[in-house]
Amino acid sequence: MDARTVPRMHDTLLLFGATGDLSQRYLFPSLLHLLRDRLLPVSFRLIAIGRQDYDDVAFRDWLRARLVDGQAGDSHARDLDALEDLLQRTSYIAVDLRDRDAIATTLSRFADRPCVSYLATPPDLFVPVCEGLAAAGLLTGPSRLVLEKPIGHDLDSARAINASLRMYLDEERIFRIDHYLGKAPVQNLLALRFGNTLLEAVWHYRWIESVDILVAETAGVDGREDYYAHYGALRDMVQNHMLQLLALIAMEPPSALDADSIRDEKRKVLRALRPMTASDVEVNTVRGRYEAGVVEGRAVSGFKHEGEVETFVAVRAYIDNWRWAGVPFNLVTGKRMAARTTEVVVSFKPVSHWLFERPVRERATPNRLVMRLQPEENIELDLMGSLAAPEWGAMELQPMELDLSMASAPRRRIAYERLLLDALNGNQTLFVRGDEVEAAWQWIDSISDAWRDAGTSTQPYPAGSWGPADATPFLPVTACSTPHDRSGS
Ligand code: BG6
Repeated sequence: MDARTVPRMHDTLLLFGATGDLSQRYLFPSLLHLLRDRLLPVSFRLIAIGRQDYDDVAFRDWLRARLVDGQAGDSHARDLDALEDLLQRTSYIAVDLRDRDAIATTLSRFADRPCVSYLATPPDLFVPVCEGLAAAGLLTGPSRLVLEKPIGHDLDSARAINASLRMYLDEERIFRIDHYLGKAPVQNLLALRFGNTLLEAVWHYRWIESVDILVAETAGVDGREDYYAHYGALRDMVQNHMLQLLALIAMEPPSALDADSIRDEKRKVLRALRPMTASDVEVNTVRGRYEAGVVEGRAVSGFKHEGEVETFVAVRAYIDNWRWAGVPFNLVTGKRMAARTTEVVVSFKPVSHWLFERPVRERATPNRLVMRLQPEENIELDLMGSLAAPEWGAMELQPMELDLSMASAPRRRIAYERLLLDALNGNQTLFVRGDEVEAAWQWIDSISDAWRDAGTSTQPYPAGSWGPADATPFLPVTACSTPHDRSGS
C-alpha cells in the first residue's frame, strides 16, 4: 500500500517552538526526509508556531537558509525539491505561548481536521499551551499531543504536569518523546533479545556479570547554561534516555509488542530500581564537572556555575527483582569527554572451570555483547577462540569479535523521523507513558536527595578526559578502545 494512503494518519502538525534549536537541528530536517521519501500524507500541512514576529514568507526564508546548508550528497537535488515542498506546506503563526486566549484565537481555524500538536518548548509552557489548544478545539479526540522532555524537574512537578495534561486529554493521546527510543539500534535491542533463543536463555543474573551503559559526549553545555544549571547530567540524561535503555535491557518479555504491554514491563523495572541512601551515593555514584581542556584538538573552557551542578555522572544501579539480583548496571554519562560514544555492554560471567594454559584465567576476556549506538551503529559479540596449530604445545585462547551488524542495513535516519511518523499514525510504542516518567523520577529523586543529605560535591575533570578519576571503575573497558587515551591528551 502506498504509505501516503495509510488510514488514521493525521495530516496536520502544529509545531510549538518552531524557531528553537530542536526544531532547527532535528524536527525540520526529519520532516524534510519524510517528505522526500513520500512517507507523509499528500495533504500534509505544517503550522509552525513561535514568538518571533515573522509572516509566512519571512519564516520560509529563514527556514530555507537554515535547511539548505544541511543538504548534501547524492540526494541533494531531491532534498532541495523536498525543501521547497515543505516550505509551501508551512504556515507560520507568531503568538505568545503564555497567552491562552491568543493561542485559541489564532489557531482555532486549524481545528477543521484532527491534528498533532508538538510542544518543543520548556515544560513551564505545557499547561498554558494546552489550555489554549483545548479552547481552540485542537485537543478534542482524535487529536494528539506530543511533548518533549523534560517532563518536570522531580517527581512532584512531573505528577503535576501529568495531572494537568489529563484534564485536557487521555493518556492514549499523549505522546511523550524520548528520542533514544527512535534510534534504530535501540529497537534492534528488542529484536536481539526476544528474537534469539541464545540470548534470552542467558539473560539473567546467573550468566550476566554486569551491564554498562555509556553516553559520552564531546559537546559541552554551550548555549544551554541556564537549563543545565537547573538540571545537571542526572536529570538531563539519566532520568530519561539512560533509564529507558536500562528498562529495555532489563524488562521481562512482554506478551505482545503493543505499546502498553511493553510499557507495563518497563515500568516494573523502573519501580524495582533500588533507591539510594546517603551512604549508597558515596560508593555508588560520582559527580563531575568539566574544567578547561582540549577536546578533539580544540581548547575549550570549563563549565562555570556557582551551585553544585554536574556535567558528568556515574551511577551503579541495582534492580531488586528475581532476574537481576546483584547485577550492577553502570550508567555513565558526561559532556566534554574524550570521545563521542554511546554504547551498551553486557558482560557475561566467566566459565565455571578454566582448562587453558594461556591466557591465565584472570587475564581472559569475558564474553561480551556490545551494542554501539553512536557514532557508528553496530553490534558485536565478543567470544573466545583459539588459533591452535599442531606445533603448539598449549592451546592459547584469543578474543574474537563477531560483527553482528546487518550487511544491508537501511539508510541511517534521524531518530525523530520515526517518532514523528508514529505520532502522526497514533502508535505509542516508542513513547513514554506517564507512570514510567514518574517511576523514573522517583528513583532519580532518591539520588538527588541522597546527594543533598550526604553533601556530595562535584569533582573536577579536564575537558577531553573520561571524567573524574574516581569514576574509572564505573567505565566499561570498551571505552578505553576508543582512539583517545583516558587522560584525553
Ligand atoms: C538531550 C539532552 O536529550 O540528548 C542533551 O538534553 C544531549 O544534553 C542529547 O546532548 C544527546 O542526544 P544524542 O542523540 O546526541 O545522544
